[in-house]
Amino acid sequence: MPQTNPAMTLPRSGPFSLDDGDSYAAWRAWKLEAHPREVSALLVPVEDLANPSPAERERILDLCRRANMAVYDTSGRSGHPGPALERALRGFAASFGMTTVEDHRSMDEEAVVSIEVVDESARPRSGFIPYTTRRILWHTDGYYKFGYPGAPVIRSMTLHCARQGKEGGVNELLDPEIAYIRLRDENPDFIRALMAPRAMTIPEFIEADGRIRPQSTGPVFWVDADTKALQMRYTERSRNIAWADDPLTSQAVAFLRQLLRGGDEPFLFRHRMEPGQGLICNNVLHTRTAFTDWEGKGKGRLMYRARYSNRIMNTGLQQAA
Ligand SMILES: [Fe+2]
Repeated sequence: MPQTNPAMTLPRSGPFSLDDGDSYAAWRAWKLEAHPREVSALLVPVEDLANPSPAERERILDLCRRANMAVYDTSGRSGHPGPALERALRGFAASFGMTTVEDHRSMDEEAVVSIEVVDESARPRSGFIPYTTRRILWHTDGYYKFGYPGAPVIRSMTLHCARQGKEGGVNELLDPEIAYIRLRDENPDFIRALMAPRAMTIPEFIEADGRIRPQSTGPVFWVDADTKALQMRYTERSRNIAWADDPLTSQAVAFLRQLLRGGDEPFLFRHRMEPGQGLICNNVLHTRTAFTDWEGKGKGRLMYRARYSNRIMNTGLQQAA
């Protein structure tokens, strides 16, 4: 089922409706009980990346239903960087129903993007922060791919650690459903503001090849009509972004920023991926800390990323059992 048309209206019933407090309370209680409590609980050993076993798949799906993410661990068995590993990664994702792969300017023949430090000659990757050793602030992937005709909304992704850097390069992770709960518990009007169709605008961007990525305007949270799943788009960046100009939006954004940076959120996880490990997720909130890289060609930190417009299979709205 293609998921191309985000529902832009506030849901009238169900846990994400502000008029359905009972559904929210039941779902919230289930969620806070079901969510893993430490990052080690996200780890799932996987023997053969290209062909996860039924038991491995079920463990990963279960985590994705409870936390929208899992970290698989091949303990280095996934092999050396190269096209065969990239194909294995795509096969792994496909076994979770992740098939509508993003068309990205920097993807290779396997539709995978290599996240590594590059110099100016490596167009079109050069000039963007992911391809440096600098930190990456809190965001969901592809937050700027939304709200214009044909926008390839990113709902799921895999990020595979092919090589880790010398120091740093830690990922912080937070399930968007937990962010939703904290915001709504603080003030339900924060949700109203962040579900508004014009909450967040990213201006038009002209690609190096002259292609224009249109202005992206849309909500931070929305609910997809088919899966009933809560979706989120967010970036912590402060330049080239326009938030809706009203006090509630400003307060909601400030609260979210404090939640992400405050150090008090028990479900916010930190993990430094080992080579052969990878994140599979329904586009959760994440960062990358700055890192020091290894010297020499073919030695530096390398992450393989593939992103998809559909969610991980069978991970739509989860209800209390
Ligand atoms: Fe990202």
